[in-house]
Amino acid sequence: MEKPSAMEKPSAIDSDVLVVGGGVIGLAIAWRAAQRGLRVVVADADPGRGASRAAAGMLTPVAEAAYAERALFELSSASLQSYPGFVAELTEATGLPTGYRQTGTLLVGYDADDLALIREHAALSESFGMPGEPMSGRDCRRAEPLLGPAISGGLLVSGDASVDPRLLTSALLAAAGEAGVLHRRAAVARLATSHDQMSGAERAAGAELTDGTQVKAGQVVLAAGWASAALPGLPPWAAPPVRPVKGQIVRLRPAAATVAAGLPGALIGRTVRGLVQGSSVYLVPREDGELVIGATQEEMGADTTVTAGGIWQLLRDARAIVPGITELELAETAAGLRPGTPDNAPVLGPSALAGLVLATGHFRSGVLLAPVTARLIAGFLADGEMPDSAAPFGPGRFAVKETRSPCG
Ligand code: GLY
Repeated sequence: MEKPSAMEKPSAIDSDVLVVGGGVIGLAIAWRAAQRGLRVVVADADPGRGASRAAAGMLTPVAEAAYAERALFELSSASLQSYPGFVAELTEATGLPTGYRQTGTLLVGYDADDLALIREHAALSESFGMPGEPMSGRDCRRAEPLLGPAISGGLLVSGDASVDPRLLTSALLAAAGEAGVLHRRAAVARLATSHDQMSGAERAAGAELTDGTQVKAGQVVLAAGWASAALPGLPPWAAPPVRPVKGQIVRLRPAAATVAAGLPGALIGRTVRGLVQGSSVYLVPREDGELVIGATQEEMGADTTVTAGGIWQLLRDARAIVPGITELELAETAAGLRPGTPDNAPVLGPSALAGLVLATGHFRSGVLLAPVTARLIAGFLADGEMPDSAAPFGPGRFAVKETRSPCG
């Protein structure tokens, strides 16, 4: 492929793979696919500005686990295990940090009912083969001295980690560029399809972008998060069943006076996830003292309004867990849209439209699942095969099955 310079705006690009979507999932796939020797183009008008920007970056398969989601838990755990190598490779390739920290998660219950739910969760994670360490209220405060006095107990999951999704996105953008990925800062105006000369079957063949560029591609990866279902030109029968699930989030940082006085800014040393009278909240600390508090989960369509009620709920619950947060500076409030699916699991692999590969529907776990998704999808793009372990996440599981009434 002739590589156009950054200034040039070619009207046609010939590629092996067009990745639609420049969030952590699309960029990680593009990077890995380019490493496999494929000519890759990523199309995104504003890379890293969707769900990836709002995400807190918790890498916590146990805390996110739910009954009947064992396959997802296993995929998440595999991705967590590959994170140290993934971020080390990124930093080596680019010199850029990712904010990765392997500090564990402390799940805490505020009152006795909350603790009972945490204990149920402990039993679930044990049944999945990843037991945590049960903690009394005193144990919790020993681990995190600034927890509120009412915390009744919890569960320590030492293997968990966190990453800064904004740093991760920047590193992925740079790594992808260095690996030869061509980035078009434009959205898809229309998916292009062609007809197979032998069979006559329709297949994805690239896209026309909003800047007028025509991208020809042997394969198209749809990694546009919640917007994947509405890609212009996508036949309805090939569209993944994703919907936007709103999450509001708050970022706090140490007040200027704390920093000026040289006092330690961090209130907690690890991710703390709490249940406060049935309401769920998490606090993710960063190395530089920033504390990310999230997140609401709202079925509001594609609405990203930050509401007083949403932020109040987060701060109310976070204060019950770490009272000292009220001394921090309010740095940012934001809302993002997670790509939800009917079974909460991602949609990974070849779609009903030949040449179109889906990598979307990561719901609450896009950042966590980026390394494993990139490995699976880049492997498919290069070799045409998905491993058996990915079968539970195939797009075919949502195909409408023809049923026949027993009464004829
Ligand atoms: N992964 C946490 C969230 O989606 O809020």
